[in-house]
Amino acid sequence: MIDFLRTLFRGRPALIKGTSKLAEGYSKKVDLGDPLAGGKQVVLCRVRGKLYALDAVCPHAAGRITDGPLFDGKHALCPLHNYLFEPETGRAVRGACANAKTYKVRERDGDCEVWA
Ligand code: FES
Repeated sequence: MIDFLRTLFRGRPALIKGTSKLAEGYSKKVDLGDPLAGGKQVVLCRVRGKLYALDAVCPHAAGRITDGPLFDGKHALCPLHNYLFEPETGRAVRGACANAKTYKVRERDGDCEVWA
């Protein structure tokens, strides 16, 4: 049943309300569905006026990318080993690991849609 629902909703974005309030250089964690039922947690990051979405699961060792102020106002941080990630691309800019997973984001009328 869950696989059927995933197939049905694949390709449809999740609407997140009020994201225009996220300040420059800050990030916010958002749950997309129930994590215990296959949902995801993403970290929305505002960099140079644009909104980006990273998967909250760190690609290094399954820590969690944190929210709040971005490091230097532009990099997302995983506090487990202090690796930094570029929200635009997911690239690890401090630490050696795979890129963080990124998701397409579209801002509209003060809200945003995330394809995760
Ligand atoms: S688990 Fe994220 S930096 Fe190590």
